[in-house]
Amino acid sequence: AIEALAKQAGVEVPRSSTAPKQESGLSALYDLMTTVATEYYNQMRHSQRAINYLKQRGISGNLAKQFMLGYASPGWSHILDTLGKNDLERKKLLDIGVIIKKSEGGYYDRFRDRIIFPIHDYRGRLIGLGGRIIDQGEPKYLNSPETVLFQKGHELYGLYQALKANRKLERALIVEGYMDVIALFQHGITFAMATLGTATSTHHLERLFRYTTEIIFCFDGDTAGRNAAWRALQIAMPLMRDSLQIRFLFLPEGEDPDTLIRKEGKAAFEKRLASATSLSTVFFQTIGQQSDLTTLEGRARFASLALEQMKSLPAGIFQTMLIEELGKRTRIDTQHLKQQMKRPPAAAASASTSTPIVTSEMIVNHFPAPLRLALALIIQYPRLAQSIDKPLPPLTHAGFTLLTEIIEIINRSPHITTGGIHEQWRDKPAAAVIAQLAHWQHHIPEEGIESEFLGAIRQLTLASYDAKIDHLLSKSAQQGLSTEEKQLLATWISKKKSPEETH
Ligand code: UTP
Ligand code: MN
Repeated sequence: AIEALAKQAGVEVPRSSTAPKQESGLSALYDLMTTVATEYYNQMRHSQRAINYLKQRGISGNLAKQFMLGYASPGWSHILDTLGKNDLERKKLLDIGVIIKKSEGGYYDRFRDRIIFPIHDYRGRLIGLGGRIIDQGEPKYLNSPETVLFQKGHELYGLYQALKANRKLERALIVEGYMDVIALFQHGITFAMATLGTATSTHHLERLFRYTTEIIFCFDGDTAGRNAAWRALQIAMPLMRDSLQIRFLFLPEGEDPDTLIRKEGKAAFEKRLASATSLSTVFFQTIGQQSDLTTLEGRARFASLALEQMKSLPAGIFQTMLIEELGKRTRIDTQHLKQQMKRPPAAAASASTSTPIVTSEMIVNHFPAPLRLALALIIQYPRLAQSIDKPLPPLTHAGFTLLTEIIEIINRSPHITTGGIHEQWRDKPAAAVIAQLAHWQHHIPEEGIESEFLGAIRQLTLASYDAKIDHLLSKSAQQGLSTEEKQLLATWISKKKSPEETH
């Protein structure tokens, strides 16, 4: 902006000796990312395998061009050899995350034998890459690490293309994957975008609401999808000014937008979009699951849960309408609800007025699904502790500590009951969570309980290895690893490859 103004005014921008260097450093990295993506883009033409893959997934040449889809060949050093000829160049490739430093010295390409999805920021600058394995393999998708150019929690894959394709973005559809964005685009739905392996954040929504007034979230129709919808809803609530709208599209089981649009076509998909569920419906449905509206106590609970959540809404017509709806559903006088809503949160939580009261329901809803399942099952069937034969990996989630503690207690007193476990936490905050989980409906038949439990534990274990591996890989890219860390990395990678060994 300064440059532009200076040009208009016909003056030279005075520069200190350090500033321009930094600025040009960053723009050099953007340029290099463009060069890398272009290189991958050009390689696509030389690989029949890659071309066939795109064809088989129904992607036209034109669309591949629009999204600059590329191909990374199978070797370990294509980018390194072509673009990393000296130390300075290699340092820059490392900075943008396209090569990885070897522990014994030297580097190798991060992306090999993968379809490359270049990631643009909203202004069209290239900031990162995603890479999908062709055919089978692990991991299915590999993304650039976070770099100076690329912050995952801020970026939306496809936003740039959507802004380019629509003079005005009437609405935005948030989906899960790269291929969902592409397939929708291919079928004429040009307003889909994907978060990059992270949950939707306030940053994402704030950015999007600069361009559009309606956001539709697309989720699986299963429990995990419903939980993700609830989390998205909670992120969105504080942003809900009256002119804005949020809705949720729940997909039939086993489908994602990519499979669905190819099966049904644009018109049917648009029909689904048109009938997407409103935020208020999802809101009351979710809270309703936790209370029985036929009893007085249930209605009171429903109202207080809803009110606590609604406190995060900005004041306005939408808030008023939700209060009125709440009044209808609970048959509580709206005036009364409005007064309750203005009251500061009660007792314990009032120390910090900005954080709403956290109920055990809310905490439990925030637990990752496998953790919630594992906790609920072990609380309800303490005997399950015996089926775990390896120590659990350390995870930082608060609920995970609880799980470890519960298992310890059961191991110490193998005949402890659900009530006994609850008793151990009497007067502690976790008591409410345990009570909640003790009654949590898991819908698993008796004979499946042990295997579901072990499955959940396995998922948690894998997730913990993923987190550790990610952490060390990005550390190794940035500053290198100590010998001890390298050993750890190798152990975790091998453990992850054969998870059955951990149980
Ligand atoms: P999915 O596993 O649902 O795959 O991942 P998909 O989008 O249906 O992919 P296709 O259709 O098999 O090609 C959804 C998103 O989660 C992230 C990616 O962003 C992906 O698009 N993901 C998935 C990863 O980052 N790594 C993985 O190993 C898998
Ligand atoms: Mn898919």
